[in-house]
Amino acid sequence: ENRTPLFESNSPALKFKVYAKCSTTKARASTMVLPHYTARTPMFMPVGTMGTMKGITTKQLEELDCHVILGNTYHLGNRPGKDLLDKAGGLHKFMNWSRGMLTDSGGFQMVSLLKLAKITEEGVEFRNPHDDSLMMLTPEMSIELQNSIGADIMMQLDDVVSSLTTGPRVEEAMHRSIRWLDRCIAAHKNPDRQNLFPIVQGGLDIKLRTCSARALSERDSPGYAIGGLSGGEAKDQFWRMVSLSTDILPENKPRYCMGVGYAEDLVVCSALGVDMYDCVFPTRTARFGNALTMSGSLSLKSGKYAKDFTPISKDCDCPTCKTYTRAYLTTVVAKENVGCHLISVHNIAFQMQLMRSIRRAILHDDFPNFVRRFMSIRFGNTV
Ligand code: GUN
Ligand code: ZN
Repeated sequence: ENRTPLFESNSPALKFKVYAKCSTTKARASTMVLPHYTARTPMFMPVGTMGTMKGITTKQLEELDCHVILGNTYHLGNRPGKDLLDKAGGLHKFMNWSRGMLTDSGGFQMVSLLKLAKITEEGVEFRNPHDDSLMMLTPEMSIELQNSIGADIMMQLDDVVSSLTTGPRVEEAMHRSIRWLDRCIAAHKNPDRQNLFPIVQGGLDIKLRTCSARALSERDSPGYAIGGLSGGEAKDQFWRMVSLSTDILPENKPRYCMGVGYAEDLVVCSALGVDMYDCVFPTRTARFGNALTMSGSLSLKSGKYAKDFTPISKDCDCPTCKTYTRAYLTTVVAKENVGCHLISVHNIAFQMQLMRSIRRAILHDDFPNFVRRFMSIRFGNTV
């Protein structure tokens, strides 16, 4: 953009420039200049566990117009491991990805995947699934590993509880996350090349979320995340917590809502002032044979489309839709792998196209109309 931004922030490794703001919602469109790439927001970041996108190449991700991908500290710590990452000169070089990258801190994955994790003030203690030995992930170790990975954006280690948890544990986790944030900030070795984002916690409690968002805002970080949501809570509570957080977090810094990826949530959270998202949903659901469209998802495993010779979506310009029909995909998903891969490509393309259309609408001062059209296509009567 050659226009002058409405407002901006200039952190050492992140320049955030907001070019348009919706007049009736909190939606905004920006560019985010990262060390490896200039990303445009609102944006969706696909998850690339193990340094590969489940068989999708970095070239394909570029062709799908992905600006930033998500790496994963927990998986990368095991394999390839910190020493190899240091030798390779970071994950960008190791996996041949030249654009933006974000890594999560690892604790959330251990707690949610392993369920064997025990949280203490020192860090997250867990049993190594390979040899059953006890291991500990501290805020310092998470940052050391994320410094070796070298992503443009790193996440603080946080104490995450399920959004369905109630009682004193929620408050304890919120305060501990702030203490861990300060340990992460102290351990961070190159703030001039990598950005460390704090994560708002506090469950579904207005007072605790407010307290967390205020404490984090005082840290003057390059950007902020909203965590602990999208775990089965009611939608109105989820949206209330997001809205409350964006009301408190600094307006001139990017906001990232973690683990959000359903189309309607991307539209609503963008209206609430969120700029970045990630979720395993598009690729995970592809593995079950589900293709995403504006009007909902198509189950290509069901046989319902076995004689349908149209693409998944006639409006989609992805390689899968330009090449294959629903009927063909129905045949190949039955044989696993290739079919799932083709649907994954489409699903990532779908997320990217949705984010581009949200951004375009905000820039053209047409976002409220966009939301109306979107909701009518997705939830309106089709007969
Ligand atoms: N991914 C989804 N939600 C969260 C969260 O609250 N914290 C972290 N670290 N990662 C997440
Ligand atoms: Zn497609």
